[in-house]
Amino acid sequence: MTKATSPWLDVESRPEHAPLAGDSRTEVAVVGAGIAGLATALLLAEAGRQVTVVEMDRVGAGATGYTTAKVSSQHGMIYDGLISKHGEEKARAYAEANEAALALIAGWVEERSIECAWRRRPAFAYVLSDGQRKHAANEAEAAARLGLPASLVHETPLPYPVSAAVRFDDQAEFDAYLFVAGLARELVAAGGTIAERTRATGLGEGSPNRLETDRGTLTADHVVVASHYPFLDRALVFPRASAQRSYSIAVRIGGEPPEGMFISAEGPTRSIRAAPRDGGELLLVGGEGHKVGQGGRSRERYHRLEEFAREHWEVGSTDYRWSTQDAVPADGMPLFGRLTPRSKTAWMATGFAKWGMTNGVAAAMVLSDAIGGRENPWAATFDPSRLRTRASAPSLVKENLNVGLHFVGDRVRDLHPGSLDELAPGEGGIVSHEGETVAAYRRPDGTVSAVSPTCTHLWCRLRFNDAERSWDCPCHGSRFDVDGAVIEGPAVRDLERKL
Ligand code: FES
Repeated sequence: MTKATSPWLDVESRPEHAPLAGDSRTEVAVVGAGIAGLATALLLAEAGRQVTVVEMDRVGAGATGYTTAKVSSQHGMIYDGLISKHGEEKARAYAEANEAALALIAGWVEERSIECAWRRRPAFAYVLSDGQRKHAANEAEAAARLGLPASLVHETPLPYPVSAAVRFDDQAEFDAYLFVAGLARELVAAGGTIAERTRATGLGEGSPNRLETDRGTLTADHVVVASHYPFLDRALVFPRASAQRSYSIAVRIGGEPPEGMFISAEGPTRSIRAAPRDGGELLLVGGEGHKVGQGGRSRERYHRLEEFAREHWEVGSTDYRWSTQDAVPADGMPLFGRLTPRSKTAWMATGFAKWGMTNGVAAAMVLSDAIGGRENPWAATFDPSRLRTRASAPSLVKENLNVGLHFVGDRVRDLHPGSLDELAPGEGGIVSHEGETVAAYRRPDGTVSAVSPTCTHLWCRLRFNDAERSWDCPCHGSRFDVDGAVIEGPAVRDLERKL
């Protein structure tokens, strides 16, 4: 039986943290109890700040719980491109920040005895075609020049030949949930507070800031929005970083899995690593990324990952399958810094481009320094205000055009909605019901749930996701369950129930 979750979140029990108990005051409010929010909170709490983390769900239940949990500064073959796009100095800052994050995570795990299946592994980004050899050679040269532990190789532990690969030594992998649960424990021990099931709904910036939540107002000297995709439009992240979904499976295989972490640098992307489980090893295979709400039938994506695994390994069973969502910045550089250029005490971290383990902790280092009034050597590189520069203009225009096309095109498509009767059990669609256009889902037992088909963020039309049984927004990636409850922001309001 395949479980529809990640192996990290398949645990018997998770420590509970009470919701926010009404209006309260803190020095630093952090939105989001994933790796970036908890790491930021821990650094600040251990520096003597009073910190409160608010989380709409549970600790680690957002993007962090659904990552493949590679702890590496190798993020595919990006460094040659980063140098071309941003110059060597900024590419070096990215490399250094991520290596420093890897070292900080290793220090936390080892010195505080966080049990999280931590182990050192080399990371490989590979190409299969000979035409891409030069690309790999350039990447190895660029990464080594930036001080990363990179080399060009032509053999890997994979069971199929590669044309070339960039190998990074001394990288690591772990269990993402056990790690953030460890951070949460450390945070509470340092005097911090975690409020689960507390959804941030608005922010009044000022002195102090007023963070509105569905459990009361949290007044704070500083606010850090580390909720993956900021829930606030004023940060203007939405046109600058696209929301992308990607998929993973965990399979049992005959024989030993390859020792290392792997990612293909040509399409289709395949991300591979092993993870210890129940005295054996699971093989994790990920890939099939696409923009949220724009990828066609999601179920087929899992099939393609399974086919790939079966082609190269003797697969006994598929134990887990899951998908996740990431904010991918148009210019390839994450965004950590002031929420807006005018913000004085409101901060954000987003745009980790699927590499949130080290980018999230790098963000924590940059933001805790900013709040502590310390210089940080990488802050300028990740500063979100860079997105207002001319260099970012072409990708911004493209992203805005994409959103505009969906805003208009999807409405035109929905001028002729289908009928409720056409929906088979397990199917969802935009249909007409009593003269109104609704987003309807027919449950396996035949009953129907219908909600407004319009995203509560900025009113784009939603699309049905057949694998997750959710309504996904193609504009900025909000997701809702079939009864209309927000699963993933930036939307903060549920969909109106129609049936
Ligand atoms: Fe922005 Fe839906 S997420 S319009």
